[in-house]
Amino acid sequence: MNKNLLRWVVTAVILIAAVVLLGGVAGGRSLMYHLKNRGDLGPLTREDIEYLSVEAPEATSRDGTVNAADWASVYPYITLTMGDNAKNSYVTDYLEEDPYLVNIYEGYGFAKDYGSARGHEYTLQDVHDTQRPHPKANCLTCKTPNFAKLVNDQGVGVYSMPFEEVEALMEENISCYTCHANAAGDAGKLVVTHSYVNKALGDNVNAIDPATLSCGQCHIEYYFTREDSETMMPYHDVASMDPEAILAYYDSFDFYDWVQESTGTKLLKAQHPETETFLQGKHAALLNCADCHMPVEMADDGTVYHSHLLVSPLENETLLSNCATCHGDTDMVKLVRGIQERVTARETEVGNELSDFKDALAAAVADGTRTEAELEDLRKLHREAQWYFDYCYVENSEGAHNSDLAMRCLDTSEAKINEAMEMLSM
Ligand code: HEC
Ligand code: HEC
Ligand code: HEC
Ligand code: HEC
Repeated sequence: MNKNLLRWVVTAVILIAAVVLLGGVAGGRSLMYHLKNRGDLGPLTREDIEYLSVEAPEATSRDGTVNAADWASVYPYITLTMGDNAKNSYVTDYLEEDPYLVNIYEGYGFAKDYGSARGHEYTLQDVHDTQRPHPKANCLTCKTPNFAKLVNDQGVGVYSMPFEEVEALMEENISCYTCHANAAGDAGKLVVTHSYVNKALGDNVNAIDPATLSCGQCHIEYYFTREDSETMMPYHDVASMDPEAILAYYDSFDFYDWVQESTGTKLLKAQHPETETFLQGKHAALLNCADCHMPVEMADDGTVYHSHLLVSPLENETLLSNCATCHGDTDMVKLVRGIQERVTARETEVGNELSDFKDALAAAVADGTRTEAELEDLRKLHREAQWYFDYCYVENSEGAHNSDLAMRCLDTSEAKINEAMEMLSM
């Protein structure tokens, strides 16, 4: 080869390598992913999945739910990745992390035992082990498909049966039937198997993307009805899925979770309103839960599928490259962690204020210097302040799903606390 030509070729190769490398650095962390998988084609999407149409295998369970093991030969990767949720086993003790909680939840189970959530493979074990009282079977609602099937077969009477009696019938943690009934073979069709979702929302379920509603069977605010302890959602449409409307709904029939002894306040405990918080947020019309928590992956044999290991998008290259399609070069980890730090710091601030207010109210109740009417006004503010604080505290994304709503809840809570403290100082 001519010396000049050789020099030219070497220079060209170096230049091309440099462009690819620099382009990758500028384009952020998606470079590795693109090189490994798809070149310039971008992340895999639903369009790359080959949807199967197959009969459901014969159920080996006692209740007719086709379980994960039954589906394993049809969907090996989906079954395997669902099992991988066992890897998410870490639990934080909230009561140790935020000691003021012990005071504000006084008189309720959460003051005794309150750890963070972990993967879906632990639901039956965790509900069995919790120190919080769980006399009735309704506590199994969000833990296992066998409970949903039992309700579907036998009706709402099941909710108030003794916990132990029904627990003995349960076979699987959250599994295929929970989100697909036995219809996973029908192109992975999503089916709402928790009957209260359809009861609460009626035709309004159609306004919600199935891949959001699927998680929205459990990652929601709920209560147990007085009539038959049935699990129920406190709204009938998406517009009413905000803390103001939900509080008004609970107020409308004087609902409360417990009466706190020292203050006499009828308090509410919020649950885990991820779906409501997300649906009121900036991504609501653009994305569903699966878009950010279930990466589309390719197995070595070329099968493309949704991973059923529910991960944080900040810890997954594929999901982060999805963000880049709208957020461009923004460092998403930094953006989200920044929001979470601000929200968490505000939570600590307002949580401690709430705890001080609760002590002041308890003292006022004890010393008997206030009229009953005055105490009732203070208790109303207490109920509201605690509700707004809790609605933000218990939402598991720490502000990532909807930072405006998180901050609004904490501000509202603080305003109620200040109003009450003002009354108490007079
Ligand atoms: C917690 C809910 C949930 C559970 C449990 C679950 N799935 Fe899925 N599944 C989904 C969602 C959501 C999608 C759709 C993602 C999308 O299209 O946005 C999906 C998609 C699918 C698809 C379509 C193909 C694909 O890769 O998207 C199949 C098939 C499927 N699931 C089978 C199963 C099987 C088999 C099990 C049990 C081993 C199971 N699923 C458990 C929620 C669930
Ligand atoms: C049948 C009820 C149910 C459904 C449906 C459900 N979840 Fe869960 N999810 C739970 C419960 C209960 C836990 C906590 C388990 C534990 O700690 O034992 C949990 C835990 C999680 C966690 C781990 C949280 C943590 O802090 O580590 C993630 C992530 C999650 N779910 C996401 C989803 C997504 C996304 C969907 C929809 C595809 C979904 N879940 C559908 C009930 C459900
Ligand atoms: C735009 C992307 C996006 C969408 C859509 C989304 N989430 Fe998240 N979610 C996040 C981020 C970011 C976090 C914070 C992750 C972290 O702290 O590492 C998070 C955290 C969570 C957590 C706490 C567990 C964890 O990994 O930190 C749960 C549970 C959860 N989301 C459920 C849902 C559900 C249910 C939906 C649908 C109603 C949903 N998410 C929709 C981005 C999203
Ligand atoms: C389909 C486009 C789209 C995708 C994909 C997308 N986002 Fe967004 N995101 C938006 C839009 C639009 C906004 C609102 C921007 C604004 O109002 O300034 C937003 C805002 C946000 C916010 C601020 C929300 C708040 O309430 O403060 C966060 C955090 C965020 N996105 C995280 C993510 C993460 C993490 C991913 C990937 C897992 C992601 N987004 C994927 C379009 C998208």
